[in-house]
Amino acid sequence: MLNIVILAAGLGKRMQSNLPKVLHTIAGRSMLAHVLDGARALNADSIVVVVGHGAEQVKTAFCTQTDLQFALQEPQLGTGHAVQQAIPLLKEDGEDDVTIVLYGDVPLVQLSTLQALLDARQEGLAVLTEILPDPTGYGRIVRDLNGKVRAIIEHKDANEAERAIKEVNTGIIAAPTAALKRWLAQLNNNNAQGEYYLTDIIGMAVADGVNVAVAHPQASFETLGVNSRMQQAELERLWQSEQARRQLEAGVTLADPARFDVRGQLVCGRDVFIDVGCVFEGLVTLADGVRVGPHCVLRDAQIGAGTQIEAFSHLDQAQVGHDARIGPYARLRPGAKLSNHTHVGNFVEIKNTNLGEGSKANHLAYVGDADIGARVNIGAGTITCNYDGVNKFRTVIEDDAFIGSDTQLVAPVRVGRGATIGAGTTLTVDAPADQLTISRVKQTTIAGWTRPVKKAK
Ligand code: UD1
Ligand code: MG
Repeated sequence: MLNIVILAAGLGKRMQSNLPKVLHTIAGRSMLAHVLDGARALNADSIVVVVGHGAEQVKTAFCTQTDLQFALQEPQLGTGHAVQQAIPLLKEDGEDDVTIVLYGDVPLVQLSTLQALLDARQEGLAVLTEILPDPTGYGRIVRDLNGKVRAIIEHKDANEAERAIKEVNTGIIAAPTAALKRWLAQLNNNNAQGEYYLTDIIGMAVADGVNVAVAHPQASFETLGVNSRMQQAELERLWQSEQARRQLEAGVTLADPARFDVRGQLVCGRDVFIDVGCVFEGLVTLADGVRVGPHCVLRDAQIGAGTQIEAFSHLDQAQVGHDARIGPYARLRPGAKLSNHTHVGNFVEIKNTNLGEGSKANHLAYVGDADIGARVNIGAGTITCNYDGVNKFRTVIEDDAFIGSDTQLVAPVRVGRGATIGAGTTLTVDAPADQLTISRVKQTTIAGWTRPVKKAK
């Protein structure tokens, strides 16, 4: 059985925030959510989050995630004491039982590194360590003359010689569950900080003749913790540059890898180009040859091959077919489904609408709750009046219709196939196919009219 214990009871005072630290985000998701990704990818049999400061807020934020259990640590007496609180929730069924301890504020540990930790462990205990040029503040990995790990000594308890050691404890360990329980029960707080140190179990394992191995993270960002807004911002940039690196390696062109933000998952085909300042949220897929112009925001969107999205466009829960042209300054809202070869231009808002193949709305329009056929032209200033203040109604525009500029379509209403609507029409009744429908006051010219002039005082 594999148990994961995530320590998340700490205060996070330096964040200067009312929000518990582990709910602060990296790449748009809470740090705790990132840690849980790793835990779930390992197929853990149980995941226990140790909460303390802001416990209710943390529990509420994750209340729908039924694979989690919470243990309350109150007061917080150290990392060993924190793991003790999780003990009753750990699962055991034999010799292979293992428990991994992760930190809720060290969000970016990758699956491959956790796997390496488990591999290093074999039957014994494994510690994730790294060599730091400046190890100040960290627990030091003390080895014997044969190079075998003997203990972890916390910075505040270390002597001069120990402080010179550059190999440090990242805090992440994997231990045999039954032995872990035994060791935790023997912890005391006779140390410089008066805390129950999880790290004291390393010395106990050595005394018990249990093998202590180490593993190392593949990338240095994996073990960085967040204690302040500054560290959060730094880790955000490191993580974004890692995501940029992965896209570049997969063949995507980024105009500037330093101005690229993915807050979710971005899946790209071949020869995709992304200009500066774009933000991708949720699940976004860009098919082969898609070009995204500068400063676009795409959230949960699927874009077909060869489509171009021009500068400053905003797409949210939208689908676009292949070879379409969107923007600049287009807004596609939830339920916008644009077919192939469609054109949507500047200051056009489309919501909950199907736009058929080759149809165009090139300038200044609101198109909501509509079913629009193929090859339809929607003129500048067209508005679907879909809302009476209480209910919403659909507008249907059949294939090859032409909607003149400044038309209001008062839904529910239907424009027949091939119909033409004259500019300035307020359409309240269905327009028949293939005919010109127009509602416009007849133009008159007033004979002999003169412009008023300013009266003399
Ligand atoms: C700990 C390690 C140290 C390691 C360092 C890596 C111990 C004794 N020391 O030190 O060897 O080099 O991390 O960053 O384990 N927490 C609780 N309850 C508590 C105390 C802490 O949940 O009572 C949580 C914190 O929220 C945090 C994590 O445990 O997520 C680590 O706590 P922290 O106080 O940062 O430990 P360090 O002193 O930095
Ligand atoms: Mg710390």
